[in-house]
Amino acid sequence: MKSIDYNNKKDLLDLGVLNDNQSDLHDIFYNKIKNDDEFKKLYCKFIKHIYTEFYPNEKYIFYQSFPSIRLQYPQSVSIPPHKDSDSLSNHPIGEKNFLIPITEMKNTNSVYIESEPDKKDFQSIHLESGDIFYFNDNLCTHYNEKNNENKLRISLDFRIMLLEDYNKYIKNWNIDVVSSNPRDVLKKEIQQK
Ligand SMILES: [Fe+2]
Repeated sequence: MKSIDYNNKKDLLDLGVLNDNQSDLHDIFYNKIKNDDEFKKLYCKFIKHIYTEFYPNEKYIFYQSFPSIRLQYPQSVSIPPHKDSDSLSNHPIGEKNFLIPITEMKNTNSVYIESEPDKKDFQSIHLESGDIFYFNDNLCTHYNEKNNENKLRISLDFRIMLLEDYNKYIKNWNIDVVSSNPRDVLKKEIQQK
């Protein structure tokens, strides 16, 4: 694989040293899309479709300015169990999650998620290129397992908020909350080893 980070760290991947949002390939992707008008136009067009399909009665929606890319490397753990709205992640209540698989996602190179908040019936979601997955990452626990599929998983995801939820969030915003990364748990575990 042509990732310098992957090749440097591949012996330690099961310790979570290479997570799904930080590597040289992520930098290449983000540098590209942030400087590429063609991508921005496509993304905005896509968000308009989401708006029309899912929220036609809303006057406004808020959307993530750029999608996040997830690269789950072979043997990598990526993310521990969390809800996006929990005290580790600190995302606003009410956010809507959308995921677009670029490569096929199945078994251990996909996301394990429960069907309802706290139901704990975790299942890996099987998705293929061309699908879109709308899910409640905000209140349902989700995580990755060590990627044993021997294939890199690539997916994009983004979050949307409705005006009503955004206003509630702003009203209750806690200035003391500065961290919003569930992977900090993995970092602490690695430091302790
Ligand atoms: Fe999450």
